[in-house]
Amino acid sequence: MSTHAPPPADPVKLRVTHFAAMKREARRIAVATAYDAITAAWCERAGIDLILVGDSLGNTALGYETTIPVRLEAMLHHAAAVARAARRAFLVGDMPFMTCRVSTEQTLVNCARMIQEGGMEAVKLEGGSEVAPMVERLVAAGIPVMGHIGLLPQSVHQRGGYRVQGRDQQTARQLRDSARDLELAGAFSIVLEGIPAPLAAEITRSIQIPTIGIGAGPDCDGQVLVLSDLLGMIDGPRPKFVKSYATLHDQAAAALAAYADDVRAGRFPTAEHSYGAEP
Ligand code: KIV
Repeated sequence: MSTHAPPPADPVKLRVTHFAAMKREARRIAVATAYDAITAAWCERAGIDLILVGDSLGNTALGYETTIPVRLEAMLHHAAAVARAARRAFLVGDMPFMTCRVSTEQTLVNCARMIQEGGMEAVKLEGGSEVAPMVERLVAAGIPVMGHIGLLPQSVHQRGGYRVQGRDQQTARQLRDSARDLELAGAFSIVLEGIPAPLAAEITRSIQIPTIGIGAGPDCDGQVLVLSDLLGMIDGPRPKFVKSYATLHDQAAAALAAYADDVRAGRFPTAEHSYGAEP
């Protein structure tokens, strides 16, 4: 079994202040999700700026249909694995369904666990103006917060599916207000998911903190994709907003089939892969 190579010496560690500077200087922020030490090491080697341990691990790594069944304990387990392999990237842990909705006290306790046990440097909360007071409390407690508005996967049942948001005047206004309220509450950045490109551009221009788009057009301050989408790790169609950079599913399946053939035909292992009696 291979173990992780030591990370490069002294990479410049990214922090919230870097993202504010990147927005000011119009430098785009590259964000990807990772769920374990292997995928975090890939992101590190690629120079990804911010690693999100997304609750999308529910419908990718864990095989659920939605993110709703993902528990805080599962997020902490995966977040800690990512944290062990990360060095330069800023680390954000997604707060799963209902972990920030029951009470302020419970929210503070849950987010503190994401930082202390999960090894994350910030948390991400789904929700707009209605979660702004919670964001304010977290920031006051010293926990950096990334907002997330637009298409909210944790609201899939309430909204009747995964639908682009902000196409009518009322929801567009709500999204503008939410972005402003989250900025005022102290969020350091906001994910804009599944909203029309012109609205995302307008929101991006209207706030001082960086927006990170996913299915929100080309004018956000940064972009995020779910790792398994961008690397083609899962067989099947990909959403319109995904650009496919690899088809790892095909490569992995072909490699495993070749391995199985070799084992069955007696071509592996050979002497080359065997230990002799002498040391
Ligand atoms: O869970 C996740 O991966 C996310 C991103 C899609 C933004 O929330």
